[in-house]
Amino acid sequence: MSSRTLLTAALPYANGSLHLGHLVEYCQADMYVRALKRMGRDALYICADDTHGTPIELNAQRQGIEPLALVSRYHDEHKRDFARFDVAFDNFGLTHSDINRAVVERIYAELGKKGLLEDREMDGIWCEVDKRFLPDRFIRGTCPVCASADQYGDVCEVCGSTYTPQELKAPRCALCGTTPVVKKTTHVFFKISRDDMVGFLRKWIDSGSLQQDVANYVRNWIEGGLKDWCITRDGPYFGFGVPNKPGKFFYVWLDAPIGYIASSIEWGQRQGMSFDDAFNTLWRSSSTRVEHLIGKDIVYFHTLFWPAVLHAAELTLPSKVHVHGMLTIDGEKMSKSRGTFINAATFADHVDPQALRYYYACKYGAASDDLDLSFDDFVLRVNGELVNKHANLFSRCTQFLTQKLDGKLGDLPFGAKEAQGEPSGDGSLLDQARRVVQSARKAEQFFANRELGQAMRELSAIADIGNEYMQSAKPWDQLKTDPEKARETCTFAANVCHALAMYLWPVVPRFSEAGAALLGSTIDRMSSELLFAERKRPIGPQQRLFERIDRAQVDKVVEASKQTMAVASTDKTTSTAKPAAAQGAKGLPPVSAAPITVAPLKETVAYTDFEKLDLRVGLVTAAERVPKSKKLLKLMVDLGEEKPRQIVAGLGAVYEPEMLVDTRVIVVANLAPAKLMGIESQGMVLAGGEGESLSVLRIDRDLKPGSGVR
Ligand code: 2FM
Ligand code: ZN
Repeated sequence: MSSRTLLTAALPYANGSLHLGHLVEYCQADMYVRALKRMGRDALYICADDTHGTPIELNAQRQGIEPLALVSRYHDEHKRDFARFDVAFDNFGLTHSDINRAVVERIYAELGKKGLLEDREMDGIWCEVDKRFLPDRFIRGTCPVCASADQYGDVCEVCGSTYTPQELKAPRCALCGTTPVVKKTTHVFFKISRDDMVGFLRKWIDSGSLQQDVANYVRNWIEGGLKDWCITRDGPYFGFGVPNKPGKFFYVWLDAPIGYIASSIEWGQRQGMSFDDAFNTLWRSSSTRVEHLIGKDIVYFHTLFWPAVLHAAELTLPSKVHVHGMLTIDGEKMSKSRGTFINAATFADHVDPQALRYYYACKYGAASDDLDLSFDDFVLRVNGELVNKHANLFSRCTQFLTQKLDGKLGDLPFGAKEAQGEPSGDGSLLDQARRVVQSARKAEQFFANRELGQAMRELSAIADIGNEYMQSAKPWDQLKTDPEKARETCTFAANVCHALAMYLWPVVPRFSEAGAALLGSTIDRMSSELLFAERKRPIGPQQRLFERIDRAQVDKVVEASKQTMAVASTDKTTSTAKPAAAQGAKGLPPVSAAPITVAPLKETVAYTDFEKLDLRVGLVTAAERVPKSKKLLKLMVDLGEEKPRQIVAGLGAVYEPEMLVDTRVIVVANLAPAKLMGIESQGMVLAGGEGESLSVLRIDRDLKPGSGVR
């Protein structure tokens, strides 16, 4: 019998900032696990940063740092962002860990023992310039089906066809632009197409672990024929080396889901379990029920490869792989140019993250429909419900009690146990209390089934009961003739608030904790049996629970996002999805394909005029950004003189400083010194193009610094 639920959310790549799209998933899982815990269930929320693969390796290389340094930077940032949004994992690890390596090796050995692995020689796509095999996403070319230019090596974004890189027309390396060649390489394949594996998967997809629509399309994939899965990659690659296969690494999509296991083992170890205890208890025993929450884009991995790997390694299969929809903003995909590609941190800088959690909760359902964040609706709903209904009820009754009734709760004309009965419909106070309890029970059911939107509707109904009662009983009139009646009215409302504080906690924990403090209590369980027991005691000190939000705050988020994304598109440190595809040579932005206006030639000069310019080969020995400038870099350039010269160059919008170090450039060496942003420049480095197409002129042989240029 399962006594523990282990819920995972998909591992974010440690290669970019979290955005509101990510939060759809992390907040949903967080609310669900918080609710389970408060209902007394043993539940764990497990996640980690996904750290391996080519994009991370290349991004680090581009920045001149080790992949692990890049990963750590994003790991810290992700932890900060999650904390701001109250996403509370029981363990948030890193897939680049010793534990994950050990689990990967263990599972790999197990698959080998089962005869499910096979070395196969295959054709790889090799770039002679970059000296590496190119993953499909790093090959660009013309779609063999619809002839659209500039498509990936595996899929056309215009017509949706999939194909092999060998079928792509006019292929080129997305890193350097040269034509790659086909070269033999050997890789390990996981034989998922073996009859027993296919038979297992057919059964598993009907086991109730998938939503019906998801099960249907996964079945179609299976019936369409599964191909064996290549689980290794050639170096250079940031990942775990394959034992006894030098130069080969495990593919990131093998070690990422295994990261779910490793991260939960880390949790187990913190509870005092040994590696093996944690591994066996959490992943090899029916006492744990595993559930995965994922987005639509990664269904293939989680419903075919992952269960097949778990089955082959005799590990616990997921009881649920729950697929949620994607985020749209005002009905459209998130867009960098419209400012709706919003990072978590940018949002939290301007709007209380609890407002987003509240809004998302209202919109979550059991199906995999997309979730739309409509800004007008967001402002209306947060102000109309969280502030006007929920916060307002807290403040009306606690303020009245504090100001008029010595801040003390009174009694109610029924016992707490009586409130557990069926509502009679007679409109009495007891009847209303029973309606609250009834809605609370429904909310519990909805929380347990991850129907958060439905749970929110019950909470709204509870708040309505409290507000309507205050309105009709009019404690301000009661006070004049019967102060104890007024106290009873406020005590009823305070008990409704207590229910709200209890049930809103999974969604808006800070709001709920502040609300409980306002009532003079702390709450650590969620159970309808505990309702209507708050009587005859002082309430807590007054405080405001939540401020209304203003459309102007949302507009600021959008404006700030436009700025952040504009900087990110020149500062490639934050590039994540499809990075190389959008890159030119060695990580530079692509040279614009737009036609340029060729400027008219300047007037002819005599050779003697040209000779006046002293052009020299310079070797850049150091480079750094000029503070507060996006464009200027301060370079130290060796011109064969006694010491290097300091030259300020306007290359910073396109080049990271480290990209220029050890580069031989051409310098106008006899230009009169000038000051740029207060820094003296003793010469000028030549470059062609402008804007994003700027390109420094480099010398491609090892000429001595100071050599003349003609
Ligand atoms: O698609 C992604 O963002 C992946 N990093 C998700 C990995 S989930 C799991 F398999 F590890
Ligand atoms: Zn190349």
